[in-house]
Amino acid sequence: MTLIQERKNLIVRTMDRIRTLLNGRNPDLDVLDAVKSELMELAKSKHLFSLEDFPPPDSNSERNSCLYRLSEDDDHQFALYANVANGTVDAPPHDHTTWAVIVGLLGQERNKFYKKISHGIAVEREEIVEEGTGVTLLPDDLHSIHIQAGEAVLNFHLYGLGLEQLPGRNYWSAHNKIWKVFPPHTDIREARS
Ligand SMILES: [Fe+2]
Repeated sequence: MTLIQERKNLIVRTMDRIRTLLNGRNPDLDVLDAVKSELMELAKSKHLFSLEDFPPPDSNSERNSCLYRLSEDDDHQFALYANVANGTVDAPPHDHTTWAVIVGLLGQERNKFYKKISHGIAVEREEIVEEGTGVTLLPDDLHSIHIQAGEAVLNFHLYGLGLEQLPGRNYWSAHNKIWKVFPPHTDIREARS
């Protein structure tokens, strides 16, 4: 079996188990924890998710990160991406309008979690996503992502709905002190299949 076929089969089996876990419902944090465990199991097959197969953007690219689509249902539910970054990334505090699970494979991605306060937001806690760890978010939960230059980062991002279907994601503009809506993601690539 080729590496691509092995990866494809393993992703299909993982996503089948995740669909079963949700059972057509909106997941709570307990269900998302079980989803996280499935993705952490998938992440153990490191030979299937290398930087050779999922290279970060070139150094002259506008963005330091990009997404590779690994799986998505025909109705755009259960969108799994490999997120890869090389260089500084500072995504502002944002929601997803759907549930999300992030699991680490390579490098470190610092996640800050926020709560809304009367005039903006306040940091509640921080977690590092790296090999063997992950975080879960409900549709209204807020986080920001921070990656330092010097070490490539590769992780899984799973969303209840594909990012192209999430035009209303909100982010906090610290400069203007207002909520804004994210423009559509500009660098989603199809994984080789
Ligand atoms: Fe996010």
